[in-house]
Amino acid sequence: MKERTAYIRSVGRFLPERKLTNRDLEKMVDTSDEWIFTRTGIRERRILGPGPGCSHMAVPAAMECLERAGVTPDEVDLIIVGTVTPDMMFPSTACLVQDMIGAKNAWGFDLSAGCSGFLFSLSTACQLIESGRVNRALVIGSDVISTLIDYKDRGTCVIFGDGAGAVLLEACTEPGFGFLDFILKIDGSGGDYLCLKGGGSRIPPTHESLDNGAHYVTQDGRQVFKAAVSEMSDVSVRILERNGLSGKDLTFFVPHQANNRIIEATAKRLNVEEHKVVVNIHKYGNTVSASIPLALYEAVMERGHEFKNGDYLLMSAFGAGFTWGSTLLRWWQP
Ligand code: ACO
Repeated sequence: MKERTAYIRSVGRFLPERKLTNRDLEKMVDTSDEWIFTRTGIRERRILGPGPGCSHMAVPAAMECLERAGVTPDEVDLIIVGTVTPDMMFPSTACLVQDMIGAKNAWGFDLSAGCSGFLFSLSTACQLIESGRVNRALVIGSDVISTLIDYKDRGTCVIFGDGAGAVLLEACTEPGFGFLDFILKIDGSGGDYLCLKGGGSRIPPTHESLDNGAHYVTQDGRQVFKAAVSEMSDVSVRILERNGLSGKDLTFFVPHQANNRIIEATAKRLNVEEHKVVVNIHKYGNTVSASIPLALYEAVMERGHEFKNGDYLLMSAFGAGFTWGSTLLRWWQP
Protein backbone atom coordinates (compact mmCIF):
# COMPACT_ATOMS: atom_id res chain seq x y z
CA MET A 1 0.00 0.00 0.00
CA LYS A 2 1.30 3.45 -0.95
CA GLU A 3 2.39 5.64 1.97
CA ARG A 4 1.51 8.84 0.14
CA THR A 5 -1.27 9.41 -2.38
CA ALA A 6 -3.20 12.47 -3.58
CA TYR A 7 -6.73 13.42 -2.53
CA ILE A 8 -9.23 16.02 -3.73
CA ARG A 9 -9.17 18.91 -1.29
CA SER A 10 -11.71 21.06 -3.20
CA VAL A 11 -13.55 21.53 -6.49
CA GLY A 12 -14.37 24.50 -8.74
CA ARG A 13 -16.04 25.22 -12.05
CA PHE A 14 -17.01 27.84 -14.60
CA LEU A 15 -19.90 27.70 -17.05
CA PRO A 16 -20.59 30.38 -19.66
CA GLU A 17 -23.98 32.01 -19.24
CA ARG A 18 -25.15 31.62 -22.83
CA LYS A 19 -27.32 28.55 -23.37
CA LEU A 20 -27.76 26.85 -26.74
CA THR A 21 -30.87 24.67 -26.53
CA ASN A 22 -32.02 21.88 -28.80
CA ARG A 23 -34.81 24.23 -29.91
CA ASP A 24 -32.15 26.78 -30.97
CA LEU A 25 -30.36 24.07 -32.96
CA GLU A 26 -33.61 23.14 -34.72
CA LYS A 27 -33.40 26.58 -36.33
CA MET A 28 -29.77 26.09 -37.40
CA VAL A 29 -29.63 22.51 -38.80
CA ASP A 30 -32.01 19.74 -39.84
CA THR A 31 -32.55 18.19 -36.40
CA SER A 32 -35.10 18.01 -33.58
CA ASP A 33 -35.17 18.20 -29.81
CA GLU A 34 -36.62 14.68 -29.80
CA TRP A 35 -33.79 13.24 -31.97
CA ILE A 36 -31.05 14.90 -29.96
CA PHE A 37 -32.51 13.97 -26.57
CA THR A 38 -33.28 10.33 -27.39
CA ARG A 39 -29.93 9.74 -29.16
CA THR A 40 -27.68 11.65 -26.74
CA GLY A 41 -29.53 12.70 -23.56
CA ILE A 42 -28.66 16.37 -24.22
CA ARG A 43 -31.21 19.21 -23.86
CA GLU A 44 -28.91 22.23 -23.87
CA ARG A 45 -25.26 23.22 -23.69
CA ARG A 46 -23.28 26.37 -22.76
CA ILE A 47 -21.38 28.45 -25.29
CA LEU A 48 -18.50 30.82 -24.56
CA GLY A 49 -17.68 31.47 -28.21
CA PRO A 50 -14.51 32.93 -29.69
CA GLY A 51 -12.65 35.74 -27.94
CA PRO A 52 -12.17 35.20 -24.22
CA GLY A 53 -10.26 31.91 -24.57
CA CYS A 54 -9.86 28.77 -22.51
CA SER A 55 -8.11 30.62 -19.66
CA HIS A 56 -11.20 32.80 -19.16
CA MET A 57 -12.99 29.71 -17.82
CA ALA A 58 -9.97 27.95 -16.28
CA VAL A 59 -9.11 30.90 -14.00
CA PRO A 60 -12.46 31.19 -12.13
CA ALA A 61 -12.67 27.38 -11.85
CA ALA A 62 -9.18 27.36 -10.29
CA MET A 63 -9.92 30.32 -8.01
CA GLU A 64 -13.08 28.66 -6.73
CA CYS A 65 -11.01 25.62 -5.69
CA LEU A 66 -8.50 27.80 -3.86
CA GLU A 67 -11.14 29.92 -2.12
CA ARG A 68 -13.08 26.87 -0.98
CA ALA A 69 -9.93 25.38 0.50
CA GLY A 70 -8.62 28.65 1.96
CA VAL A 71 -5.38 28.17 0.03
CA THR A 72 -3.57 31.14 -1.52
CA PRO A 73 -2.28 30.99 -5.13
CA ASP A 74 1.36 31.16 -4.01
CA GLU A 75 0.86 27.86 -2.13
CA VAL A 76 0.23 25.96 -5.39
CA ASP A 77 3.18 23.93 -6.73
CA LEU A 78 1.77 22.67 -10.03
CA ILE A 79 -0.90 23.63 -12.58
CA ILE A 80 -1.96 21.19 -15.32
CA VAL A 81 -4.60 22.26 -17.83
CA GLY A 82 -6.22 19.45 -19.80
CA THR A 83 -7.45 21.05 -23.03
CA VAL A 84 -7.70 20.69 -26.80
CA THR A 85 -8.64 24.37 -27.15
CA PRO A 86 -5.82 26.35 -25.50
CA ASP A 87 -5.96 30.15 -25.82
CA MET A 88 -3.12 29.85 -28.35
CA MET A 89 -0.56 27.27 -29.49
CA PHE A 90 1.93 28.79 -27.08
CA PRO A 91 2.45 29.96 -24.41
CA SER A 92 0.44 27.22 -22.71
CA THR A 93 -2.85 27.99 -20.98
CA ALA A 94 -1.19 26.76 -17.75
CA CYS A 95 1.27 29.68 -18.05
CA LEU A 96 -1.60 32.13 -18.61
CA VAL A 97 -3.51 30.75 -15.62
CA GLN A 98 -0.40 30.80 -13.43
CA ASP A 99 0.10 34.49 -14.22
CA MET A 100 -3.57 35.48 -13.94
CA ILE A 101 -4.10 33.88 -10.52
CA GLY A 102 -0.64 34.89 -9.24
CA ALA A 103 0.61 31.37 -8.51
CA LYS A 104 4.17 32.58 -8.38
CA ASN A 105 5.64 29.35 -7.02
CA ALA A 106 3.98 26.98 -9.50
CA TRP A 107 5.20 25.28 -12.67
CA GLY A 108 2.91 23.53 -15.10
CA PHE A 109 1.85 22.67 -18.61
CA ASP A 110 -1.10 21.83 -20.86
CA LEU A 111 -2.02 18.25 -21.60
CA SER A 112 -3.85 17.26 -24.78
CA ALA A 113 -5.75 13.97 -24.69
CA GLY A 114 -9.18 14.81 -26.12
CA CYS A 115 -11.98 14.02 -23.71
CA SER A 116 -9.50 12.09 -21.52
CA GLY A 117 -7.51 15.28 -20.92
CA PHE A 118 -8.68 15.73 -17.34
CA LEU A 119 -8.11 12.08 -16.41
CA PHE A 120 -4.60 12.01 -17.89
CA SER A 121 -3.80 15.34 -16.16
CA LEU A 122 -5.13 14.00 -12.87
CA SER A 123 -2.99 10.89 -13.13
CA THR A 124 0.14 12.94 -13.88
CA ALA A 125 -0.47 15.30 -10.95
CA CYS A 126 -1.19 12.39 -8.59
CA GLN A 127 2.08 10.70 -9.49
CA LEU A 128 4.05 13.91 -8.92
CA ILE A 129 2.38 14.24 -5.51
CA GLU A 130 3.06 10.57 -4.71
CA SER A 131 6.74 11.06 -5.57
CA GLY A 132 6.97 13.85 -2.99
CA ARG A 133 8.10 16.44 -5.56
CA VAL A 134 4.77 18.28 -5.43
CA ASN A 135 2.52 18.92 -2.44
CA ARG A 136 -0.36 20.82 -3.98
CA ALA A 137 -1.63 20.79 -7.58
CA LEU A 138 -4.40 22.46 -9.50
CA VAL A 139 -5.77 20.15 -12.19
CA ILE A 140 -8.08 21.93 -14.61
CA GLY A 141 -10.14 20.68 -17.55
CA SER A 142 -11.21 23.60 -19.76
CA ASP A 143 -12.43 23.58 -23.34
CA VAL A 144 -14.04 26.13 -25.66
CA ILE A 145 -14.87 23.37 -28.12
CA SER A 146 -17.58 25.56 -29.73
CA THR A 147 -14.74 27.41 -31.50
CA LEU A 148 -13.93 24.22 -33.44
CA ILE A 149 -17.46 23.18 -34.35
CA ASP A 150 -19.16 23.63 -37.69
CA TYR A 151 -22.67 24.77 -36.73
CA LYS A 152 -23.88 23.51 -40.11
CA ASP A 153 -22.84 19.90 -39.31
CA ARG A 154 -25.69 18.27 -37.40
CA GLY A 155 -23.56 15.21 -36.62
CA THR A 156 -21.23 17.20 -34.35
CA CYS A 157 -22.85 20.53 -33.41
CA VAL A 158 -25.57 18.98 -31.26
CA ILE A 159 -23.13 17.17 -29.00
CA PHE A 160 -20.63 19.67 -27.69
CA GLY A 161 -20.63 22.52 -25.16
CA ASP A 162 -18.12 24.75 -23.37
CA GLY A 163 -17.09 24.78 -19.72
CA ALA A 164 -14.32 24.30 -17.17
CA GLY A 165 -13.91 22.24 -14.04
CA ALA A 166 -11.00 22.03 -11.60
CA VAL A 167 -9.79 20.17 -8.55
CA LEU A 168 -7.18 21.08 -5.97
CA LEU A 169 -5.11 18.03 -5.08
CA GLU A 170 -3.06 17.66 -1.94
CA ALA A 171 -0.94 14.90 -0.45
CA CYS A 172 -2.81 12.28 1.56
CA THR A 173 -0.76 10.40 4.15
CA GLU A 174 -3.59 8.16 5.35
CA PRO A 175 -2.69 4.74 3.85
CA GLY A 176 -5.41 3.21 1.67
CA PHE A 177 -7.15 6.51 0.89
CA GLY A 178 -6.99 9.05 -1.96
CA PHE A 179 -6.33 8.07 -5.58
CA LEU A 180 -5.51 4.38 -5.44
CA ASP A 181 -5.12 3.38 -9.06
CA PHE A 182 -5.21 4.48 -12.70
CA ILE A 183 -5.43 2.58 -15.98
CA LEU A 184 -4.68 4.79 -18.97
CA LYS A 185 -4.56 3.79 -22.63
CA ILE A 186 -4.05 5.26 -26.09
CA ASP A 187 -4.58 3.76 -29.54
CA GLY A 188 -3.58 6.05 -32.39
CA SER A 189 -5.13 3.75 -35.00
CA GLY A 190 -8.49 5.28 -34.00
CA GLY A 191 -7.25 8.81 -34.71
CA ASP A 192 -9.13 9.39 -37.96
CA TYR A 193 -12.49 8.64 -36.37
CA LEU A 194 -12.43 11.87 -34.36
CA CYS A 195 -10.06 14.64 -35.26
CA LEU A 196 -9.32 18.21 -36.16
CA LYS A 197 -7.14 18.06 -39.25
CA GLY A 198 -6.26 21.73 -39.63
CA GLY A 199 -4.39 24.23 -37.50
CA GLY A 200 -1.33 22.11 -36.73
CA SER A 201 1.95 21.78 -38.59
CA ARG A 202 0.51 19.41 -41.19
CA ILE A 203 -2.25 21.76 -42.37
CA PRO A 204 -1.47 25.26 -41.14
CA PRO A 205 -4.23 27.82 -41.64
CA THR A 206 -4.56 29.03 -45.22
CA HIS A 207 -7.52 30.43 -47.16
CA GLU A 208 -7.80 27.01 -48.80
CA SER A 209 -7.82 25.07 -45.51
CA LEU A 210 -10.51 27.41 -44.16
CA ASP A 211 -12.62 26.94 -47.29
CA ASN A 212 -12.23 23.15 -46.94
CA GLY A 213 -13.47 23.19 -43.33
CA ALA A 214 -10.19 21.72 -42.07
CA HIS A 215 -10.49 23.70 -38.82
CA TYR A 216 -13.67 21.94 -37.71
CA VAL A 217 -14.02 18.74 -35.68
CA THR A 218 -14.92 15.73 -37.81
CA GLN A 219 -16.02 12.39 -36.46
CA ASP A 220 -17.45 9.02 -37.31
CA GLY A 221 -19.95 8.99 -34.46
CA ARG A 222 -20.83 5.30 -34.70
CA GLN A 223 -17.19 4.15 -34.50
CA VAL A 224 -16.49 6.49 -31.58
CA PHE A 225 -19.63 5.29 -29.82
CA LYS A 226 -18.72 1.59 -30.15
CA ALA A 227 -15.11 2.09 -29.05
CA ALA A 228 -16.15 4.30 -26.11
CA VAL A 229 -18.55 1.71 -24.68
CA SER A 230 -16.22 -1.25 -25.01
CA GLU A 231 -12.99 0.45 -23.89
CA MET A 232 -14.45 2.45 -20.98
CA SER A 233 -16.18 -0.69 -19.73
CA ASP A 234 -13.07 -2.87 -20.08
CA VAL A 235 -10.72 -0.58 -18.14
CA SER A 236 -13.37 0.11 -15.50
CA VAL A 237 -14.02 -3.60 -14.91
CA ARG A 238 -10.25 -4.25 -14.78
CA ILE A 239 -9.48 -1.49 -12.30
CA LEU A 240 -12.26 -2.68 -10.00
CA GLU A 241 -11.18 -6.32 -10.25
CA ARG A 242 -7.52 -5.64 -9.58
CA ASN A 243 -8.50 -3.72 -6.45
CA GLY A 244 -10.77 -6.53 -5.25
CA LEU A 245 -13.96 -4.54 -5.88
CA SER A 246 -17.11 -4.70 -8.00
CA GLY A 247 -19.55 -2.07 -9.25
CA LYS A 248 -21.66 -2.72 -6.15
CA ASP A 249 -18.88 -1.34 -3.94
CA LEU A 250 -18.95 2.08 -5.59
CA THR A 251 -20.63 5.11 -4.02
CA PHE A 252 -20.38 7.11 -7.24
CA PHE A 253 -19.47 6.41 -10.85
CA VAL A 254 -18.42 9.64 -12.61
CA PRO A 255 -18.16 8.91 -16.35
CA HIS A 256 -17.19 11.24 -19.18
CA GLN A 257 -20.42 12.85 -20.41
CA ALA A 258 -20.32 12.12 -24.16
CA ASN A 259 -23.66 10.44 -24.75
CA ASN A 260 -26.18 9.17 -22.22
CA ARG A 261 -26.41 5.86 -24.07
CA ILE A 262 -22.63 5.38 -23.67
CA ILE A 263 -22.98 6.15 -19.94
CA GLU A 264 -25.89 3.72 -19.51
CA ALA A 265 -24.19 0.90 -21.40
CA THR A 266 -20.98 1.30 -19.39
CA ALA A 267 -22.82 1.49 -16.05
CA LYS A 268 -24.78 -1.65 -16.94
CA ARG A 269 -21.61 -3.59 -17.75
CA LEU A 270 -20.14 -2.46 -14.41
CA ASN A 271 -23.29 -3.39 -12.55
CA VAL A 272 -23.55 0.05 -10.92
CA GLU A 273 -27.00 1.09 -9.74
CA GLU A 274 -28.53 4.04 -11.57
CA HIS A 275 -28.63 6.44 -8.61
CA LYS A 276 -24.87 6.11 -8.20
CA VAL A 277 -24.11 7.24 -11.76
CA VAL A 278 -23.44 10.98 -11.98
CA VAL A 279 -25.11 12.44 -15.09
CA ASN A 280 -25.33 16.11 -16.09
CA ILE A 281 -25.09 15.73 -19.87
CA HIS A 282 -28.65 17.07 -20.33
CA LYS A 283 -27.46 20.53 -19.18
CA TYR A 284 -23.99 20.83 -20.67
CA GLY A 285 -23.50 18.28 -23.48
CA ASN A 286 -19.98 16.97 -24.05
CA THR A 287 -17.60 19.55 -22.58
CA VAL A 288 -14.47 17.52 -23.54
CA SER A 289 -11.78 17.96 -20.83
CA ALA A 290 -14.25 19.69 -18.49
CA SER A 291 -16.76 16.87 -18.53
CA ILE A 292 -15.54 14.76 -15.59
CA PRO A 293 -14.65 17.66 -13.24
CA LEU A 294 -18.02 19.33 -13.97
CA ALA A 295 -19.84 16.09 -13.11
CA LEU A 296 -17.68 15.60 -10.02
CA TYR A 297 -18.39 19.18 -8.96
CA GLU A 298 -22.13 18.58 -9.04
CA ALA A 299 -21.78 15.33 -7.12
CA VAL A 300 -19.70 17.00 -4.41
CA MET A 301 -21.78 20.20 -4.17
CA GLU A 302 -25.26 18.69 -4.44
CA ARG A 303 -24.76 15.27 -2.87
CA GLY A 304 -21.84 16.06 -0.58
CA HIS A 305 -23.75 14.67 2.41
CA GLU A 306 -23.56 11.24 0.73
CA PHE A 307 -19.74 11.30 0.66
CA LYS A 308 -18.01 9.57 3.57
CA ASN A 309 -14.33 8.92 4.08
CA GLY A 310 -13.61 5.48 2.61
CA ASP A 311 -16.25 5.68 -0.16
CA TYR A 312 -15.12 4.43 -3.54
CA LEU A 313 -15.50 6.62 -6.64
CA LEU A 314 -14.73 5.49 -10.16
CA MET A 315 -14.09 7.97 -12.97
CA SER A 316 -13.76 6.91 -16.58
CA ALA A 317 -13.16 8.75 -19.86
CA PHE A 318 -12.85 8.13 -23.57
CA GLY A 319 -11.82 10.60 -26.24
CA ALA A 320 -10.06 11.55 -29.43
CA GLY A 321 -6.81 9.73 -30.08
CA PHE A 322 -8.23 7.30 -29.16
CA THR A 323 -7.45 7.93 -25.49
CA TRP A 324 -9.18 6.38 -22.51
CA GLY A 325 -8.86 5.25 -18.94
CA SER A 326 -10.27 4.87 -15.46
CA THR A 327 -9.25 5.90 -11.98
CA LEU A 328 -10.27 4.64 -8.58
CA LEU A 329 -10.52 7.15 -5.74
CA ARG A 330 -11.13 6.28 -2.10
CA TRP A 331 -12.71 9.45 -0.75
CA TRP A 332 -10.83 11.20 2.00
CA GLN A 333 -11.13 14.60 3.68
CA PRO A 334 -9.00 15.49 6.71
N1 ACO B 1 -30.40 15.23 -36.05
C1 ACO B 1 -31.12 14.38 -36.81
N2 ACO B 1 -30.57 13.35 -37.46
C2 ACO B 1 -29.24 13.16 -37.34
C3 ACO B 1 -28.43 14.01 -36.56
C4 ACO B 1 -29.07 15.08 -35.90
N3 ACO B 1 -28.39 15.95 -35.12
N4 ACO B 1 -27.16 13.57 -36.62
C5 ACO B 1 -27.15 12.49 -37.40
N5 ACO B 1 -28.40 12.24 -37.84
C6 ACO B 1 -28.87 11.17 -38.73
C7 ACO B 1 -27.75 10.59 -39.57
O1 ACO B 1 -27.57 11.35 -40.74
C8 ACO B 1 -28.28 9.22 -39.86
O2 ACO B 1 -29.23 9.30 -40.90
P1 ACO B 1 -29.26 8.15 -42.04
O3 ACO B 1 -29.58 6.87 -41.28
O4 ACO B 1 -30.36 8.63 -42.92
O5 ACO B 1 -27.91 8.14 -42.63
C9 ACO B 1 -29.05 8.83 -38.59
O6 ACO B 1 -29.32 10.07 -37.92
C10 ACO B 1 -28.27 7.93 -37.66
O7 ACO B 1 -26.94 8.42 -37.57
P2 ACO B 1 -25.88 7.78 -36.59
O8 ACO B 1 -24.58 8.51 -36.74
O9 ACO B 1 -25.88 6.30 -36.73
O10 ACO B 1 -26.58 8.13 -35.21
P3 ACO B 1 -26.17 7.64 -33.78
O11 ACO B 1 -27.30 7.00 -33.13
O12 ACO B 1 -24.85 6.91 -33.79
O13 ACO B 1 -25.95 9.02 -33.03
C11 ACO B 1 -24.09 10.36 -32.34
C12 ACO B 1 -24.96 9.92 -33.51
C13 ACO B 1 -24.97 11.12 -31.36
C14 ACO B 1 -23.00 11.28 -32.87
C15 ACO B 1 -23.50 9.13 -31.65
O14 ACO B 1 -22.91 8.28 -32.62
C16 ACO B 1 -22.47 9.48 -30.63
O15 ACO B 1 -22.76 10.06 -29.62
N6 ACO B 1 -21.21 9.05 -30.83
C17 ACO B 1 -20.14 9.36 -29.92
C18 ACO B 1 -19.59 10.67 -30.28
C19 ACO B 1 -18.70 11.25 -29.22
O16 ACO B 1 -18.86 10.96 -28.07
N7 ACO B 1 -17.76 12.07 -29.65
C20 ACO B 1 -16.91 12.78 -28.77
C21 ACO B 1 -15.90 11.86 -28.14
S1 ACO B 1 -14.90 12.63 -27.09
C22 ACO B 1 -13.63 13.69 -27.61
O17 ACO B 1 -12.51 13.37 -27.44
C23 ACO B 1 -13.93 15.02 -28.24
